Amino acid sequence: DRRVTVRDIAAAKLRHEKWPMLTAYDALTARVFDEAGIPVLLVGDSAAMVVYGYDSTIPVTVDDLVPLAAAVVRGTKRAMVVADLPFGSYQAGVSQALDSAARFMKESGVQAVKVEGGRRILPQVEALVAAGIPVMGHLGLTPQSVNVLGGYRVQGRGQAGEELLADAKALEAAGAFSVVLECVPEDLAARVTDSLSIPTIGIGAGDHTDAQVLVWQDMAGLTPRTAKFVKKYADLQTVLGDAARAYAEEVVGGRFPAPEHAYR
Ligand code: KIV
Ligand code: NA
Repeated sequence: DRRVTVRDIAAAKLRHEKWPMLTAYDALTARVFDEAGIPVLLVGDSAAMVVYGYDSTIPVTVDDLVPLAAAVVRGTKRAMVVADLPFGSYQAGVSQALDSAARFMKESGVQAVKVEGGRRILPQVEALVAAGIPVMGHLGLTPQSVNVLGGYRVQGRGQAGEELLADAKALEAAGAFSVVLECVPEDLAARVTDSLSIPTIGIGAGDHTDAQVLVWQDMAGLTPRTAKFVKKYADLQTVLGDAARAYAEEVVGGRFPAPEHAYR
């Protein structure tokens, strides 16, 4: 077994092969996704919501995410593991971005990092790539900028679409190996995908991107309320709730543990 590399990702685009990405935040679920053949796992700053219970990604820190990313790396053999650089860990400049990314590379063992933004963070992207760190870009709905965007809404309509395309081209020129397009009109995502030689990874961006990504708890039906772009492939909220209720009933009723669960 060897891990998926940026070269495999580049080759997939040449072969017009679509691929799936999921988020992961712990060893056991990461292992399930790895064994299911998901080639790229993202330790997203969405951990702020789905792991830490915040209502945006703003509060989560490098210290919060590094141990989760380390667990995902330890739980997997094949997937490329990408870590989000969280809000406030790269915007200040090149040296801050290098310090933060180095922590994920050294302490977590991830193979790449993701940063939000286009031309305004090009110096950071160039410096990370120059330091030997593969960089995944993220354009469109960039949740770390929610207070500027004025909410979680579709991005890149009209003239903003031209800006987004220019940002995507700039990220490619700066050496990014892929770019996430979140919550943008599908025709814009298609244009960006056809204009770039690096793969686009869509979330709420239609079916023309090279890859797709979803937060695993959304995909598996654990998140109570999700956006229109999410498809639920399981109903874990019901499955886990039913399991917890059945366990509780059996404990209260004296039916668990049964003799076979005890040591004689
Ligand atoms: O943090 C995250 O989960 C993400 C993906 C949705 C792309 O950035
Ligand atoms: Na993120």
